[in-house]
Amino acid sequence: MNIPMLDLRSEYLYMKNDIDTAIAKCLEHQSWILGPEVKEFEKKCAEFFGVKHCIGCSSGTDALVIALRAIAISSGKEFFSRDEEILTTPFTFTATGDAILRSGATPVFIDINPVDFNISIDGIDKYLKADGKKVKGILPVHLYGTPCNMDDIYEIASKYNIFIVEDVAQAFGACWKNKKLGAIGHAGAFSFFPSKNLGGFGDGGMISTNNDTFAEIATILTKHGGKDKYNVDYIGYNSRLDTLQAAILLAKIKYIDQFNNKRIGIAKKYNSELQGIEEIELPEIIDGSVFHQYTIRAKNNKRTALQGFLKEKGIASMVYYPLCLHQMKLFQERAKIHSPLTEAEKASKEVLSIPVEPLMTEQQQNYVISEIKEFFRLNG
Ligand SMILES: Cc1ncc(COP(=O)(O)O)c(C=O)c1O
Repeated sequence: MNIPMLDLRSEYLYMKNDIDTAIAKCLEHQSWILGPEVKEFEKKCAEFFGVKHCIGCSSGTDALVIALRAIAISSGKEFFSRDEEILTTPFTFTATGDAILRSGATPVFIDINPVDFNISIDGIDKYLKADGKKVKGILPVHLYGTPCNMDDIYEIASKYNIFIVEDVAQAFGACWKNKKLGAIGHAGAFSFFPSKNLGGFGDGGMISTNNDTFAEIATILTKHGGKDKYNVDYIGYNSRLDTLQAAILLAKIKYIDQFNNKRIGIAKKYNSELQGIEEIELPEIIDGSVFHQYTIRAKNNKRTALQGFLKEKGIASMVYYPLCLHQMKLFQERAKIHSPLTEAEKASKEVLSIPVEPLMTEQQQNYVISEIKEFFRLNG
């Protein structure tokens, strides 16, 4: 058997009629830049998240940068300054920290909560109490599709009067207490990278917000920084969502709840079948999670051997992420760390994500389960 992390070809075939029709429509109208599908997809997303505005852009990275820039501009300056701080997790994709730097601010890395791998609320609270004067905002990441505790984050942000930009790149359709992620903070930033829960056929991103002024500035920033691109007000970007991507995403969004539910079903099956193996820790099934990744911890330095064994058996697996952001040269030079990031470093040595393709067959799921059991039978 050969089991990839994802099977995008099968997903395409599953939705082929919808996708082919959507692409054919674009070929007919030839309106490649900001064609009708972009507005339609933005409207659809706004309804789906329950927010007033969604603004398409070129990538999840741009969505983060533009969201942060729009907040800086709303407060009267083009960029944040180096002595302004934004709190985030060191256990995320590079783009999260990089976006903070590109907005002009300094990232401050707060350790993670070992249960859900997300930023520690206690860590945020401690930093704000001890050293919080320069903090302008929090950038929580809903890692692996698991929601951060948005009640607590919202409460802290309100208390200190700081903003929240949610990094929802891995959590399209996920909820915190029946509210869609990306609809709780001041803004949300989504990615349509092909492997995301809602993935395009290339790069794409989206910013969500309920704030009219913010939405207007963010929209302007995606189009060179002006309402009129021949007469601009801000340092902007060429960061429009392609018509073709919007058309494909509109076709695919019909399936998002069905696919997210399939992911949750696979995660539950893995959890019930793999429980009892002492040397792995299984993820908690947290309400509202959409299992962008199903990530276990392999304890006692067994991860590399487990990954190698699975590879030999034709089962793909990935380490998200082998290095924390504060361990990278860029951030060592430019970011701030408050206290030891012990849990993030520990997680980076233990985590292993295994296939959670929504269209995986029962037989494939059983094969993954039995090979993991076999590894620990041989190496326990
Ligand atoms: C947590 C997180 N933030 C940001 C991004 C950036 O998104 P993109 O690749 O669309 O720029 C990604 C995904 O790649 C991500 O996983």
